[in-house]
Amino acid sequence: MPDKQLEYIKSVTDFEPEVALVLGSGLGALADEIDIEAVVDYRDIPDFPVSTAPSHKGRFVFGYIGDVKTVIMQGRVHLYEGYTANQIAQPIRLMRKMGAKILFLTNASGGINRNFSIGDFMIVEDHISSFVSSPLIGKNDDSIGVRFPDMSEVYSKRLNRIIAKTAKESGISVKKGVYIQLSGPAFETKAEIKMCSVLGADAVGMSTAIEAQAAKHCGFEVCAISCITNLACGIMDKPISGEEVTETANRVAPQFKTLIKKSIERFVNG
Ligand code: HPA
Repeated sequence: MPDKQLEYIKSVTDFEPEVALVLGSGLGALADEIDIEAVVDYRDIPDFPVSTAPSHKGRFVFGYIGDVKTVIMQGRVHLYEGYTANQIAQPIRLMRKMGAKILFLTNASGGINRNFSIGDFMIVEDHISSFVSSPLIGKNDDSIGVRFPDMSEVYSKRLNRIIAKTAKESGISVKKGVYIQLSGPAFETKAEIKMCSVLGADAVGMSTAIEAQAAKHCGFEVCAISCITNLACGIMDKPISGEEVTETANRVAPQFKTLIKKSIERFVNG
């Protein structure tokens, strides 16, 4: 069957990315700061999900981070926008078909671990996706990946070591932990955060685990960094707002961008 989405991309650009990068809240500007070769709006791609979340632009940006050929998702799609897990996986699978082998996911999240502070970065070591639907439900496309994929190392230890080393050398402090994805769009209740904590989660958010699962299935080497934009409900006795999330994400974006760019260069060049 012809792949209409890939064909459309190829009709715009023959750029073959090595790395795919998904930008979370507050990080969108990174895509405008690289050496851009081509841009494709999601809305122009046949049957493609389009971002509706605030500050998510909704386009692929193709270009160079240092000398590394990268495709950037400037805006992702979420369950809370009404998309299915399968639709959320589409851009990830498409970037793999474009040729990318490494996927770098970023997000904003609420800190559950009591050693975390607002503005911290957390290298994602593992995730809990059991409360959201799987992107792998339905007929399996064997040309993409196996029916029952292993998830014992979703987040590459190799990539995580490089991120940790890069952070240290750049004077950026990073935490490590487990990310739990919930559907949103409501922030969690105190009881839900207590549950997440008991289950072993260090940070909570509304993205990433579905994308990581789809990415592992289709053969990406995956890593993710979470920006702790607020402390989760009940960890701090204060209501959470979308504004607080955006404000923190914007405040720490310069450091976050440095860490992402330097890490990507090292992923490929050593
Ligand atoms: N909960 C869920 N998602 C989030 C949060 C949170 O506290 N902060 C940023 N994204």
